Amino acid sequence: MTGVEGKILKFKPIKEDVFYCGLNDNDRVIFDELIPLENGTTYNSYLIQGSNKTALVDTMYPPFIETYLNNFDENSIKNIDYIIANHGEQDHSGAIPAVLEKFPNAKIVTNNVCKNNIKEMLLVDEEKFITVKDGDTLSLGNKTIKFIMAPGVHWPDTMFSYLVEDNMLFTCDFLGAHLPGDDLFAKNDSELESAAKRYYAEIMMPFRAMCKKYVKMIDDIKPAMVLPSHGPVYDKPEFILDLYRDWAADEAKNLVLIPYVSMYKSVEEMVFYLRDKLEDMGVKTLCFDVIQADLGDIAMNMIDAATIVIGASMVLASPHPAAANVAYVANLLRPKAKFASIIGSYGWGGNLVNKLADMLSNLNVQVIEPVLIKGKPKEADYALLNDMAKSIYKAHQALGLV
Ligand code: FEO
Repeated sequence: MTGVEGKILKFKPIKEDVFYCGLNDNDRVIFDELIPLENGTTYNSYLIQGSNKTALVDTMYPPFIETYLNNFDENSIKNIDYIIANHGEQDHSGAIPAVLEKFPNAKIVTNNVCKNNIKEMLLVDEEKFITVKDGDTLSLGNKTIKFIMAPGVHWPDTMFSYLVEDNMLFTCDFLGAHLPGDDLFAKNDSELESAAKRYYAEIMMPFRAMCKKYVKMIDDIKPAMVLPSHGPVYDKPEFILDLYRDWAADEAKNLVLIPYVSMYKSVEEMVFYLRDKLEDMGVKTLCFDVIQADLGDIAMNMIDAATIVIGASMVLASPHPAAANVAYVANLLRPKAKFASIIGSYGWGGNLVNKLADMLSNLNVQVIEPVLIKGKPKEADYALLNDMAKSIYKAHQALGLV
């Protein structure tokens, strides 16, 4: 079973009477059955022991419930008074029924939206809940938890929990990373940046405006520590806050992203020709054969790209399904790209451009004239690709990117 390697027998102290009691999932290979994971992930849970009451901040992904609960015995935890549910998704809330069974006097503390989600998804009775609103506090004796509603990063039920006396902010999924390891605290290195960027691409990019809002809110709080529900604890939160400022900013980078699928190399020839022309003009261009590529790598580059060009062969009378999938994912993730286009090749006909363009309806982009050809590219087709390269260059130039 996954997670055994990362089993934590002793809760890790973070600060006096605040402990990490989450688990590594080193073997998980894909998240949401969508984005591949390079290193697995973590499900973070935190224990706060006040002078009068003990609270748990978030719980555990269901496959790890047994290990998670055994660790409470290993650490001689005899009672939990409050289970703070910052978010209802089951990688954090999934163990709540089991924790309630083990500690029957515990109450779930959460907001009304999250309460309703947990009631529906985990079949927990209303009487087990204490409902809180923005700004409400919960006393554990010598420690106080203040609740901050944070809908939109990434569910409508999300809230943050702020441990007032210790200046520690528990942000649930916000600012997380898919990065398991033995180190409790973030190393703030390139490995973490990459893991956090992959995470942001899928989980947070569709909510850029909310990300900006909550980064500003956290700036104002100035927490000594940020404790997300995936990945390491930030004892120098500026590292991840600066990254989010960059990723969520409206300004794109001088990058053209070309995910493509090519059945008989015609589209690939067009893609590589366009790439070489753009690179010659000083426009960074990354091409991904979507049949071979990691969708996470493509999504990560959507964060920065000013232009997205989708390359597609035709299957029957429609875009190749692999190209349709990447267009669909782009539409879901709503990157900040300012320009988009399509290049493609067909054998006997069909509607490629309109069908792909319809799949990108969420993108707020200016469309650059697509290039659709029959069979192999010929002189006149290369001329059209030259025009596309010039149009992209001028578009980037107009934004001051090149
Ligand atoms: Fe990590 Fe939205 O759950």
